Amino acid sequence: MSAIIEISGLTKQYGSFTALDHLDLTIEEGAVFGFIGPNGAGKTTTMRILTTLLKPSEGEAKIGGYSVMTHPNEVRRMIGYMPDFFGVYDDMKVWEYLDFFAACYDIPETVRKGMIGDLLDLVDLGSKHDEMVESLSRGMKQRLCLARTLAHDPKVLILDEPASGLDPRARIEMRELLRELQNMGKTIFFSSHILSEVADICTDIGIMEAGKLVAYGDIEQMRQQLQVSRLIQVRMLGDTVPLKDLLMTHEKVDAITDGREIELTPDIVRFDFTGDDEELSQLLLSLIEKKIQIISFSEEVGDLEDVFMQATQGVIN
Ligand SMILES: Nc1ncnc2c1ncn2[C@@H]1O[C@H](COP(=O)(O)OP(=O)(O)OP(=O)(O)O)[C@@H](O)[C@H]1O
Ligand SMILES: [Mg+2]
Repeated sequence: MSAIIEISGLTKQYGSFTALDHLDLTIEEGAVFGFIGPNGAGKTTTMRILTTLLKPSEGEAKIGGYSVMTHPNEVRRMIGYMPDFFGVYDDMKVWEYLDFFAACYDIPETVRKGMIGDLLDLVDLGSKHDEMVESLSRGMKQRLCLARTLAHDPKVLILDEPASGLDPRARIEMRELLRELQNMGKTIFFSSHILSEVADICTDIGIMEAGKLVAYGDIEQMRQQLQVSRLIQVRMLGDTVPLKDLLMTHEKVDAITDGREIELTPDIVRFDFTGDDEELSQLLLSLIEKKIQIISFSEEVGDLEDVFMQATQGVIN
């Protein structure tokens, strides 16, 4: 595996406002990278620099070894870009729309016909070949737009919120399509607001906040970086007071609640734990040594939204 996107010290100022602040990021060939962040985090700015549409104020970005600054034409040949809004193309049939973009990439007319059919099949719009673009639903337009980015068979796809504005079913279809493109060997760099939605198709995730990358890695690595607290649930026999008293003295334990407060059965105690696995097992051992009659001791599977919320609330800076 080798790096296909290399971003170093990338900075963008709009006047005195810093939209992107010394971003460093490396994406391996074949990766599906989810670029996550709230409104205004700097995702589109980054993507527009990568696609050579915007000049950085400082720093460097390379795609396939080519600098976006010094070799923009080589970069453009390597990438397919889907912007965050769909342009208006009235009075065009679906096939004409693709034909227009394929022609822009100098694909010969004799090749274009078959290619358009293949692209439409790939994005599941084969039956819409002769329909007018404006008659398509939003989800279909989004897929058509994706088909357009594939016309010149780029190695890297840069997709700005490909699933925004789609209903749940259309989102799943978009996700399937991204998976298919990954299987075709494309490297995919795409943005989204919603972490949990992208987590299962991404090989890597970066979380942006106010122009800075606040977390990077796979979900597990991010959880560790952010030291997101883990929710532990204990079920026990007898009175829960001794257990709660013990937990209270542990420095990595916080927010202790019992079943009555959280509408569960009264034999349950829950708490937040900020320690690692070693410390957690030590804690369990000490409870058993105190003869607390534990029936179960388990970690609730953390909600990815928590990772995102904690990351974007400046937990680490
Ligand atoms: N042309 C511009 N002039 C001035 N400020 C800009 C310009 N473009 C973007 N910005 C500002 O830069 C910041 C980053 O914007 P950007 O569009 O990159 O965010 P984003 O992460 O894509 O947000 P969203 O999720 O809303 O699409 C925002 O605060 C935005 O207001
Ligand atoms: Mg954006």
